[in-house]
Amino acid sequence: MEDMLVRLYDLPETESTYQRVQEAGVILRRPGVYEKHLVENFVREHFSPKWVSEVSVAMSHQPVTCWIATKEKQILGFACYDTTCKAFFGPTGVSEEARGLGVGKALLYRSLEGLREQGYAYGVIGGVGPKEFYEKACGAFVIPGSTNSIYRDILPEPQ
Ligand SMILES: CC(C)(COP(=O)(O)OP(=O)(O)OC[C@H]1O[C@@H](n2cnc3c(N)ncnc32)[C@H](O)[C@@H]1OP(=O)(O)O)[C@@H](O)C(=O)NCCC(=O)NCCS
Repeated sequence: MEDMLVRLYDLPETESTYQRVQEAGVILRRPGVYEKHLVENFVREHFSPKWVSEVSVAMSHQPVTCWIATKEKQILGFACYDTTCKAFFGPTGVSEEARGLGVGKALLYRSLEGLREQGYAYGVIGGVGPKEFYEKACGAFVIPGSTNSIYRDILPEPQ
C-alpha cells in the first residue's frame, strides 16, 4: 500500500459528475451525527472493522468529515476525509451493486473539496487501493517512499 498526493488547487471539473449521479436519483450529502450508527453499520456490512473505526472518527467531527451517497433512503457509498490523519482522504467505498455509476468519483470530489475548504493545498489518498481510479479521477500520483506509510504494527483482528 502506498499513499498518493493530490493537488487540491488543481482539481478537475466536478459539476458533470454531480449531475450524472443526481440524474440517476442519487443524493450526495453529509450524514447527520444522529445517523452515525447507520453509516457505521453500512461500512461494517460492506467493508471492514478498521474502516468502521475510521468512519466513527469522521462522524465525530464538527462538521462531519464524511459524505454519503443515498438512493431511496439507502446508503450506496461513503467517503471520509481529515480522518485517519490530517489532510488524508479515505476510507471510501461503494456497495458492489452501485459501482460504475460515478458514485465513487462524486464522493471523492466532495471530500477533496472539503479538504480544500479546510485550507489544505494538497490532499493525501492514504493507503491506496485502486491507483488508476485516483490517477484518472483527480490526477493523484504516488508519493515516493510511502510504502506502508503510517500503517505499521497494526493489531490483528480477533479470529
Ligand atoms: C474504488 C471505488 C470506490 C470506485 O467506486 P465507483 O462508484 O465504482 O467508481 P466510479 O463509478 O465513480 O468510477 C469513476 C471512474 O473510475 C474508474 N474506476 C472505478 N473503479 C476503478 C478501479 N478499481 N480501478 C481503475 N479505475 C476505476 C471508472 O471506470 C470510472 O471511469 P470514467 O470516469 O472514465 O467513467 C469502488 O470500486 C469501491 O468501493 N471499491 C472497494 C473499496 C476500495 O477499494 N476503496 C478505495 C480504498 S483506497
